[in-house]
Parts: sequence; C-alpha cells; structure tokens
Amino acid sequence: MGQRYQIKVEDTGECFSCTGEQAVLAAMLRARRGPLDYGCCGGGCGVCRMRIVSGEWTLFRPMSRAHVSESDLKQGIALLCCVQPRSDMVIARV
Ligand code: FES
Repeated sequence: MGQRYQIKVEDTGECFSCTGEQAVLAAMLRARRGPLDYGCCGGGCGVCRMRIVSGEWTLFRPMSRAHVSESDLKQGIALLCCVQPRSDMVIARV
C-alpha cells in the first residue's frame, strides 16, 4: 500500500486519510467525513469542486475546465475526484 496522508476539512475540522493512489473524493466518501457532495466521480460535473488551502497534490485525470477556470486553479480550486495527495492537505468549501 502507498503512503497515507491526512486530509483536513477546514470548515469543520474533520480529518480523514487518503493514499497517494486514491482520489481525495473517494477517500472522503469512504471515511464519511467532509461535505460528501459528489456526482459523476469522473471530473465532469463539478459537484466536488473545493479549494485546496494547503498541501501538495496532483491531477491524475483531466477535469472539466467548464467548472475550474485558470484563475480558479491558481487559487487552489480543483475537482476532488481528480486530485491525489502528495502531502497532508487542508481543503475547504468554495
Ligand atoms: S464528482 Fe463530478 S466532477 Fe467530481
């Protein structure tokens, strides 16, 4: 199993763990922590859009640019079903 990272939801203080091979959204749903808003789980619908406040992360699949503009991305806004952690992270509702 890969490395595990702690993900904290800034709005509620809830924490859950996520491996480097898992989508942050999938880990959140499995742990039943955080907003638990999801739709397509494939980067298309934009429902899982959140702001990544801190931490290292990577996109492992394309995400719909209709829901995340270039300036959103610069502010750390991303679709969590497309994001894998590379360090502990803090996330927040947009
Ligand atoms: S759940 Fe649809 S874009 Fe993430």
